[in-house]
Amino acid sequence: MIHLRGRGTDVVVDLSHGVPVIVHWGSPLAAPGEAALEAAAHRPLVPAAPDVVAPISVVPEHGSGFPGRPGLLGSRPDGRGWAPRFRPDGHTVDSDGLTVEARDDVAGLALTTIMTLDHALSVRVELTNVSVDQTYGLAGLSVTLPVPERAGELQTFTGRWSREFQAHRTPWARGAHIAENRRGRTSHENPPVVFAGTAGFGECSGSVWGAHLAWSGNHTLLAERLADGRRYLQLGELLHPGEITLEPGSSYRSPEVVAVHSDTGLGAAGRQFHRRLRVRPEHPKSPRPVMFNSWEATYFDHDIDRLRELADRAARIGVERFVLDDGWFGSRRDDTSGLGDWVVSADAHPDGLGLLISHVTGLGMSFGIWVEPEMVSPDSDLYRAHPEWALTTSGYEPVLARNQLVLDLARPAAFDHVLRQLDALLSEHDISFLKWDMNRNHIGGSGADGAAGSHAQTEAVYRLMDELRRRHRGLEIESCSSGGARVDHEILRRAERVWTSDSNDPLERQMIQRGASMLIPPEIMGAHIGPERSHTTGRRHDLAFRAATALFGHLGVECDLLELSDGELDDLADAIAVHKRFRPLLHGGDGVRFDTEPAYLAHGVISTDRAEALISYAAIASAPSQTPASLMVDGLDGDRTYRVERVPLPGERTVGARSLPDWFEHGAFRRGEELARLGLQLPPLNPETAVLIRLHALDDPQV
Ligand code: DGJ
Repeated sequence: MIHLRGRGTDVVVDLSHGVPVIVHWGSPLAAPGEAALEAAAHRPLVPAAPDVVAPISVVPEHGSGFPGRPGLLGSRPDGRGWAPRFRPDGHTVDSDGLTVEARDDVAGLALTTIMTLDHALSVRVELTNVSVDQTYGLAGLSVTLPVPERAGELQTFTGRWSREFQAHRTPWARGAHIAENRRGRTSHENPPVVFAGTAGFGECSGSVWGAHLAWSGNHTLLAERLADGRRYLQLGELLHPGEITLEPGSSYRSPEVVAVHSDTGLGAAGRQFHRRLRVRPEHPKSPRPVMFNSWEATYFDHDIDRLRELADRAARIGVERFVLDDGWFGSRRDDTSGLGDWVVSADAHPDGLGLLISHVTGLGMSFGIWVEPEMVSPDSDLYRAHPEWALTTSGYEPVLARNQLVLDLARPAAFDHVLRQLDALLSEHDISFLKWDMNRNHIGGSGADGAAGSHAQTEAVYRLMDELRRRHRGLEIESCSSGGARVDHEILRRAERVWTSDSNDPLERQMIQRGASMLIPPEIMGAHIGPERSHTTGRRHDLAFRAATALFGHLGVECDLLELSDGELDDLADAIAVHKRFRPLLHGGDGVRFDTEPAYLAHGVISTDRAEALISYAAIASAPSQTPASLMVDGLDGDRTYRVERVPLPGERTVGARSLPDWFEHGAFRRGEELARLGLQLPPLNPETAVLIRLHALDDPQV
């Protein structure tokens, strides 16, 4: 048995079976005896079942009698090797974690498991074909994690364009929940993250086990309760038929599965995902610049005078990075052409981009630009020269999406073409940020040999991003995919920001950001103040609600600033100033979400020293009762006294009540324990409005 100790979670692994078996994944165990651990893992033999109970190992084996879905799917060309049974082949424990080797000489396969535990548990598995003369057709290699039988509820996520990250709760009574993604990107529909927990688990209550597949391509996610009562989560890359063939001596390494546990609810489990990202060296450490994005202001109309004026106004209201969206290159005057030709268009920008960029940087802002490097338009110079570079299935009419095709980046020549053009763009201009978009699914697809190509394409995208970042130190990337269809921990090794959704409607965003916050921290989550009337929903919202919603992420502004009056620009500047005032707290503290009645949503950030907090309390619908329940503010220091006050936002609507809580009108003092046990009394809010609540400890010299 190997005992891994993390921060608040322990994992004990039994190595006697060959493939490691997790026998404990939960709260720290001070000094567990091996006998007790073995006894806990023991399952009685029952009639009409095999004489052994096959464990739920990290890669469970049909060949050992496991009745669920095997972790490894594949076979030799003659059909053998499909049900291997691995034997132990050594292990090491060092600062890189636990590495376990297992081998099956009959099947000619070796399996390596790499596990680390810190803020979160990380597991990867690697399969090697050790046969000297036969290939191995791999159909799937997933990571499997057992969860205790008391985890009777599941939370998964669904979504669509403009409505990402919708949390979905279901009882996990029997059978399997399965979500498969064949879109070639992380997807709107099935983000690869799942939480299992004890019945009714809440933000601050219940035991929770969560898992995420860090991968930006196809995936499969399974949560199964076996007939004998045992439960497991299984996550892995979804491979198309014939997609991976292992030559003798070659290996396939699975994407990483990141797993979290908490005995104090969903909030603490999600914060482990955040901490685990924050300690990585590539995680952004500098203050996240407030952005202006030109998309909803100009769409494809790149009028240089308007762009310069937009930049003037952006700088005036406190924007720090100006991003020029789609339409600057090739023949791209609308979405029917130009992808693949990453050269500045003489039509759209007759004098080049240099003057606009120097105008922007002269105003003290940095400059970013939109690209979609994985795509090609049939109406483009690139496609006319190399129609064979599109990722399509030969012999069939290609399926278009947004008038475009996927460019097969696994072809070295196609990869080099895009690398060369983007490298030149970045070398010739003062551009420090790429909004990297990806707007269509992989459908069909073939490499030069006609096989499925999503796996190779996903790896090529990573390589392209990595190479550009290597050549251009300091370059930041935003992962965008028709909004939030590519949000995962692997893309975040090479992206500092995600475009969470194309919806800038704050009502939609309240739910989208709440769901996304279960996987990523606020400093990563792109959130823009859009126009008063949302372009995606047509709803109107005042600035206070738009600002209260967006300022909890990596803030941006995306609207036609030229339409705004001086007074409206001043209000927008005030909203940005509120974000900047709280930015270190918002982007460094612990994210919290509160359980409220359905008409309200409350979330916030508490500084890691518990001295300060900023909470958003929003009404998303009209509430059935006239007065809301008190907000139970968990997570502060019980013994400290806090000043509680409202942070006014520009254009805030008045609250519809005849008397208001003391703190709301003129500030008040509460002890942390009172806030947690008695709660904070809240004013009734009109639907689609929000208030910001600041709490700061009186003993804190900083505040
Ligand atoms: C989809 C993105 O999500 C939008 O923000 C915008 O960049 C468009 N693509 C541009 O084509």
